[in-house]
Amino acid sequence: MLTNKPKTKILVDGGDPDETLRVKKLLGFVDGQTTNPSLIAKNPEIQQQIASGHSLTSQEEKDEYRKIVQTISSLVGDAGVSIEVFADLDTRAEDMLAQGEEMFTWIPNAYIKYPCTHEGLKAAELSVRQQIRVNMTLCFSQEQAAAVYTATKGSKEPVYVSPFVGRLDDRGEDGIDLVKNIKTMYRHGDGHVHVLAASIRHLDHLLASFALDVELVTVPAKVLEKWASSNLPMPDRDFSYKAASASGEPLKPIPYKELDLNQSWQSFDITHELTAKGIQKFVADYRSTLKRSA
Ligand code: G3P
Repeated sequence: MLTNKPKTKILVDGGDPDETLRVKKLLGFVDGQTTNPSLIAKNPEIQQQIASGHSLTSQEEKDEYRKIVQTISSLVGDAGVSIEVFADLDTRAEDMLAQGEEMFTWIPNAYIKYPCTHEGLKAAELSVRQQIRVNMTLCFSQEQAAAVYTATKGSKEPVYVSPFVGRLDDRGEDGIDLVKNIKTMYRHGDGHVHVLAASIRHLDHLLASFALDVELVTVPAKVLEKWASSNLPMPDRDFSYKAASASGEPLKPIPYKELDLNQSWQSFDITHELTAKGIQKFVADYRSTLKRSA
């Protein structure tokens, strides 16, 4: 059990309440949870239904998603449960917002996840005006994080931005650099956006996130279990992160950019190939649970 709780809030990245409970017993707490369509599709009960020949209608899938987050909601602390809207590359902001409004009523501690796209940012801008908490997901660039900052300025609630570390590593770029760059850029800001390091694949990602003092980190249960079985190490003063791929190759640094946080969000170039690919992957995983006609 963790007696010296880190400053960084720890969230479970998953879609299975039993897993969240297991981690909670192991650490003594879980600050929050993030979910997404891929993680929900992997939920054991949904998988069991599919294995027994029962694919879901989109309404059934939504009902399952609601039940899962309702069970998780009371297990976690004040970092809340992030629920992701269903969006493909053509989904308009109005549609995302309508879903966000509904999902926000599911539990008292919801954060609504929108992608870092033009439509997602528009939905976020409208959401924060009605005090819907948001978590901007699939963030792969400093420009996207700058746009999140300016689109949600004035939000009464903290806004989360989720840089995806592991997926940048997967293509040879140092994902931890992106987290570091966003933290540096936000030093010039008003603190309303909190950095939530995501796509954490191993202990070094977790320790680097702690060392960068990110406000939150979301971590798969298996990485938290590894952390616990290694006696919950924390980075010391001399900690230095060795950016390396899964096969040990060095990763390419991502240089810091000077961006002006007073610009309008529409003026940033927010396109990123990995954001589009990420959306397509979520859509494919979501559809894999659905009946053909759903
Ligand atoms: O938190 C984001 C996460 O669910 C994506 O992780 O490992 O699929 O890149 P991964």
